[in-house]
Amino acid sequence: MSETIKSSIAAVKNPVTGNTLLEESRIQDIKQDGETLTIVYERSGISPEQKRVIENQMIEALKGQFNEDKIFIKTVSKDSTEVKSQASGNAQPKQQASLNVGHAQPAPKKHVPGVGKIIAVSSCKGGVGKSTLAVNLALSLKAKGHSVGLIDADIYGPSLPILLGKRGAKPAANENKKMIPIESHGIKFISFGSFIEEELPVIWRGPMLGGVLNQFLFDADWSGTDFLIIDLPPGTGDIQLSMVQATDIDGVVVVSTPQTVALHDTRKGMKMFEQVKVPILGLVENMSYFVPEDAPEKQYYIFGKGGAQEMSKELGVNFLGEIPLVTAVREGADEGQPYMASKDHEGSEVWKAYLGMAEKVEDFFKKKDNKEKGFFSSLFK
Ligand SMILES: Nc1ncnc2c1ncn2[C@@H]1O[C@H](COP(=O)(O)OP(=O)(O)O)[C@@H](O)[C@H]1O
Ligand SMILES: [Mg+2]
Repeated sequence: MSETIKSSIAAVKNPVTGNTLLEESRIQDIKQDGETLTIVYERSGISPEQKRVIENQMIEALKGQFNEDKIFIKTVSKDSTEVKSQASGNAQPKQQASLNVGHAQPAPKKHVPGVGKIIAVSSCKGGVGKSTLAVNLALSLKAKGHSVGLIDADIYGPSLPILLGKRGAKPAANENKKMIPIESHGIKFISFGSFIEEELPVIWRGPMLGGVLNQFLFDADWSGTDFLIIDLPPGTGDIQLSMVQATDIDGVVVVSTPQTVALHDTRKGMKMFEQVKVPILGLVENMSYFVPEDAPEKQYYIFGKGGAQEMSKELGVNFLGEIPLVTAVREGADEGQPYMASKDHEGSEVWKAYLGMAEKVEDFFKKKDNKEKGFFSSLFK
C-alpha cells in the first residue's frame, strides 16, 4: 500500500463517527497503476450521502497528485443490507425512483439504449435562454413527428419542471428499477429539480453531479426516443465534460445572445467541444431583437445586430437561426406552457424560427448519416 497516498488521505474522516478512515482501519487497498489510482475502503454503516462526503474528501486530498478522472474509489461492505440514507428523513414511497449520489466512476462511453440521436444544448453564460430554447427545440422536433426526450443537466439551476409545468411531479420507477421520465406536452423529461428540495444548498449539489447525470442517461427508460436533448449547465466545466465523456453526443447546439461578451464566451465554449470531438450542430442567437407586443411590426436590436451569424461564418459552423425577444416566450416559460406547445402561436415569426431550427437539426443528421454511409460504402467498394 503506497505510504505517500496513505498519508495524503490520512485526514479523510468518516462523517458518522468523526474518526479518520485510517483510525477505523477502513482503507483496504491502495493500488497505483501508472496514472491510475484505485482505493478500496470498507463502507459498512455509511449512507450514500456520507459515502459522497468521504469520496469527495479523498478526491480533494489527491487532486494535486492525480487527475480526477483517474481516481477510482471502490467500496466493500461487511453488511449485505444497504444502509439507508439518514439525512433524507421519511421513507420514500415504494415505486418512486431514487438517486444514488456519489462521485462518478469514469467509465468508457456507453450508448444510451433506445435513443437515436443525442443533442446537447449549451451556452457559455447563464440566462441566455438555453433551457427555454431546449424545450422549444424539443417541441419543434416533436411537431415534425419525432419522439423527443429532455434531460435537465443544469444541476445548479434545474428549470425543466417549471418550464414544462411539472413542478413537484416525481418520476416513478418501472419494474426494472429504471426511472420513467415525466411526460409533458408530448415530450419526456428528467430533471434534477424533480429529485431535490428547491432550497437544497448549492454546496451539496456539486459532488452529486457525475453520478446523477449518468443515471439520467443510463438508468432511465428512454426507449423509443428519436432525439434526446440535454440541457447542459452554462459554461464548460466538469459537468459538461463528464456528460461528454459518458456517452457519444451527436451534436451540440450552442446558444448565445448577440452581446459581445456572450459571443466571446461562446467562441471559447465551442473550442472546448472541438477539443473533445463533439460535433457542433450549430449556433442559435437568442433574444436577437425585441418585438413589442403592441407594435409587432417593429424590431429593436437591443444587444446589437447579426453578431452570432457573423461568428458562425467565421468559425465555419451552421447558423441555426435567430429567436427574437418576445413577451409570449417568457410568459409561456413561466407558466409551464412553452411557446411551441400553444397552437395559438402557429405561423408566427417565432414559431417559424423555432421550426426552422428543428429542420436544420434534421438536415444536419441527414447529411451526417449520408456521409457516414458514403464512408462505409466506399470502404466496401
Ligand atoms: N426569446 C425569448 N424571449 C423572451 N424571453 C426569453 C427568451 N428566451 C428566454 N427568455 C427568458 O429569459 C430568461 C432566461 O431563460 P432561460 O431559458 O432560463 O435561460 P438559461 O437556461 O440560459 O439560464 C427566462 O425568464 C426566459 O423566460
Ligand atoms: Mg437554464
